[in-house]
Amino acid sequence: MPIVAPSLLASDFLHLADEAKMLNESEADWYHLDVMDGRFVPNISFGLPVIEQLRVATTKPFDVHLMIEEPEKFTEAFKKAGADHIIVHYEACRNLHRNIQQIKSLDMKAGVAVNPHTPVELLESVLCELDQVIIMSVNPGFGGQHFIPQTFQKIRQLRKMIRERGLHVLIEIDGGVTTENAPAIIHEGADVLIAGSTVFKSADPKATIRTLKNIK
Ligand code: DX5
Ligand code: ZN
Repeated sequence: MPIVAPSLLASDFLHLADEAKMLNESEADWYHLDVMDGRFVPNISFGLPVIEQLRVATTKPFDVHLMIEEPEKFTEAFKKAGADHIIVHYEACRNLHRNIQQIKSLDMKAGVAVNPHTPVELLESVLCELDQVIIMSVNPGFGGQHFIPQTFQKIRQLRKMIRERGLHVLIEIDGGVTTENAPAIIHEGADVLIAGSTVFKSADPKATIRTLKNIK
């Protein structure tokens, strides 16, 4: 069964407590939280105070996707706010290995995200240090975009790299995931489906989460 991580970027911010309650009651495994700084990506989302408050109202692990520059300045603060996993961007880190060590030293799962233009082969030297990798299937910054089909090839490549090294690294797919393309995403070897619009803009979000969860 895939791990399902709804992205709160697509939720109703005026009713976050209700959205959190819905996710608590649903079959979702993690909450995916998208933090944007308006520098690494051309958009600003939400940050520490929102995550801190959500933590009180929620029961599942927080998968915090930092689309920010110099993430090392904020790692500890996100831990304090309630992050369980921190994912930094390959393209935003000058000292990626150090950033990964910092996240792990704070007792969180460490992940790296790669943009659509970044080959997964560039993760070779750090793969054995990672708990998870996000393959971006859209350009980061916005919800509701279309899935980039070249992602399938990247999933296959990364799956092969992980298998050849005998590692246990989860592959997450982020952007444009729908109930239509999710079976192919899982078939190629992904472990985690991140879904924003597909879950929160659907008529019955809990049922949509169940559909994603039951993909074989
Ligand atoms: C995009 C974010 C995604 C986004 C996905 O920069 O990283 O997590 O919320 O949204 P959908 O599922 O609507 O493409
Ligand atoms: Zn994300």
